[in-house]
Amino acid sequence: MTDRKLIGLASEVMANSYSPYSRYKVGAAIECSDGTVFTGCNIENSAFGVTMCAEASAIACAVSAGQRKFKRIAIIADGSSYCLPCGTCRQLLYEFAPDLEVLSARSDGRYVSYSMGALLPMAFGKDHISNL
Ligand code: THU
Repeated sequence: MTDRKLIGLASEVMANSYSPYSRYKVGAAIECSDGTVFTGCNIENSAFGVTMCAEASAIACAVSAGQRKFKRIAIIADGSSYCLPCGTCRQLLYEFAPDLEVLSARSDGRYVSYSMGALLPMAFGKDHISNL
């Protein structure tokens, strides 16, 4: 699948964003190693800390469907800046995909690409607890 197509899927699901508090709509589309794509949007809550990011909702759908290997994720948000995964989502994505490619698109269609290693250097991972 092309980057543009994956970003297009993220853009479609962004329309479902439930973000009445921030009014910042985010969509994410994660591509599994077998080519299947799962999407998610941000889901806010009146108890703000319960809010779920778009990336978290996409990977939750994917893992719940039995997927554990991922190639790429595309993220798109309203506005003129690139939305990159928050710290919690970086850790969540790293668990399953330390080599994930992360695409972040702006609403004007321009996008950037980063490796998970660049976004979360010296990460804490499974290896650290495998000797317990
Ligand atoms: N948000 C995401 O969905 N993904 C990110 O990577 C950053 C932030 C959402 C959470 C909240 O609903 C809104 O954006 C403002 O923080």
